[in-house]
Amino acid sequence: MMGIMSSLVMLLSMCGALTQSMKTEGLTHSQTIEAAAAFSTQPDVSAELKELRDTVAKLSLALQSTQDELKVMEADNIAVKERLVSSETQIYELKSENAAQRADVTAMQSRLLATETDVDVLQMHVQAASKVAFTAALPLGHVHSGDRHLNLVFSKVLTNVGEAYSSKSGVFTAPVRGVYYFRFTVVDLVYNSGMTVQLSKNGQVIMQLFENETDGNETYLSSGMTLELELGDEVNMVLPPGYKLFDSGSNHSTFSGFLLFPL
Ligand SMILES: *[C@@H]1O[C@H](CO)[C@@H](O)[C@H](O)[C@H]1NC(C)=O
Ligand SMILES: *[C@@H]1O[C@H](CO)[C@@H](O)[C@H](O)[C@H]1NC(C)=O
Ligand SMILES: *[C@@H]1O[C@H](CO)[C@@H](O)[C@H](O)[C@H]1NC(C)=O
Repeated sequence: MMGIMSSLVMLLSMCGALTQSMKTEGLTHSQTIEAAAAFSTQPDVSAELKELRDTVAKLSLALQSTQDELKVMEADNIAVKERLVSSETQIYELKSENAAQRADVTAMQSRLLATETDVDVLQMHVQAASKVAFTAALPLGHVHSGDRHLNLVFSKVLTNVGEAYSSKSGVFTAPVRGVYYFRFTVVDLVYNSGMTVQLSKNGQVIMQLFENETDGNETYLSSGMTLELELGDEVNMVLPPGYKLFDSGSNHSTFSGFLLFPL
């Protein structure tokens, strides 16, 4: 650009000087002839002008070409900027994704921790519930069922780990799903009569023993059973209508149970 400008300035100043010299010097004929003579000794002005015009034309072409290149470069620049913005957007999105993933991991860790705590609590419950064993005895005296099915209440508690057996109702309630073993012994003084007792699960008779005696001495009914129980299942002893039991207070009549293993 500077080259072009200086060339133009030089060209204009040369033309100006030439015009000036023709104006000042072209007054008289003799002077004109002198001037022409003088002029003829000068280099060919029209040739120089042509040369200069060519130079200007070349320079303007170069200028046009430079401007074109500049435009291409500007277009390239815009494209590069767009790619940069796009890359920055991608980086931002990746960072956001990363942050979201970290948040997910943190949330999952929290849930895992909570779950582990729940498992610990459950294990404690299961361990506590796993310790189940009881034995209870009928108190001193006679027990008559009368005309109903009597739930026998073995009110003398010898053992009751886990408190699954109620010495008030005589009912055992399974604290966990599992396999349990129950056994019982009852006694009566039987004289020309029979005696019986039932083992009951959830109100259904699952075992009943009978004995008939004539001598009036102590007669025992005794047995046991392994039971698979769900949480909350109930097991107890029942004396059917019209029967009696007698215990001397020496723990002859007992009801026992314990958890073999949870399921
Ligand atoms: C046993 O006793 C019951 C009543 O207590 C009686 O109904 C039954 O017939 C007796 N059985 C025998 C074999 O004596
Ligand atoms: C059982 O009772 C009879 C009489 O009823 C008695 O003679 C006997 O000694 C008693 N047996 C026992 C083992 O107590
Ligand atoms: C019966 O069990 C009780 C505990 O409830 C005990 O104190 C008592 O000594 C036992 N009786 C006999 C005769 O073993």
